[in-house]
Amino acid sequence: MIISSSIISLNFLLFEQELKLSEQAGIDWLHIDVMDGQFVPNITIGPMFLPFCKKATNLPLDVHLMVNHPENHIEAFAKAGADSLSIHIENNPHVLRTVQNIKELGCKAGIVLNPGTPAEAITELLPFVDMVLVMSVNPGFSGQNFLPEMLPKIRKIRKYLDLSKYKILLQVDGGINKDTVSSVIEAGADVIVAATAIYKYPEGIKAGVDALRNS
Ligand code: DX5
Ligand code: ZN
Repeated sequence: MIISSSIISLNFLLFEQELKLSEQAGIDWLHIDVMDGQFVPNITIGPMFLPFCKKATNLPLDVHLMVNHPENHIEAFAKAGADSLSIHIENNPHVLRTVQNIKELGCKAGIVLNPGTPAEAITELLPFVDMVLVMSVNPGFSGQNFLPEMLPKIRKIRKYLDLSKYKILLQVDGGINKDTVSSVIEAGADVIVAATAIYKYPEGIKAGVDALRNS
């Protein structure tokens, strides 16, 4: 299980320290949630933030773009140090072109599905992507409850990936904690994203990561 911790919930007063603690706790990737206040109701951070992450940690930067017109922003994020760029399939008529451009920029490309988007929507994109990300909450905020209704979709996409000849990771994002993680892994996820369950874990970051792994 690859754990990508979302920095949306970390204590920004202790930014560098919390990234170091994440590394020591055995986090695999850092998940950067980018929100524009348009595609989703919330606003977070832009590319200027990534070089600071790079200075504080060697963890790969897993960027989740929840923005309208992601094609206008991928170059800035690639130049700022993103290792992977995941874009939503919704509200994105030229999603394949943007995926191809992400790869040309030297990043891994992910495709993201909102809870209301069916698994079938991604089948034609499988030859082009490195990762499929299934949202298990409505994107926009951390700390929401996991939607167990997404488990059949995760299982369906797992089957598509197993039947395909491509090497594609299946990532799940939203509401993942020590109580929900096992169902997500059983359904076939390779990568889980967690913010609250790591950065707001009462006993600290390391204990939060251990609780996820031990579940
Ligand atoms: C939601 C984001 C998630 C989320 C995770 O829009 O993409 O990465 O913040 O937060 P938790 O783990 O608290 O659900
Ligand atoms: Zn995310």
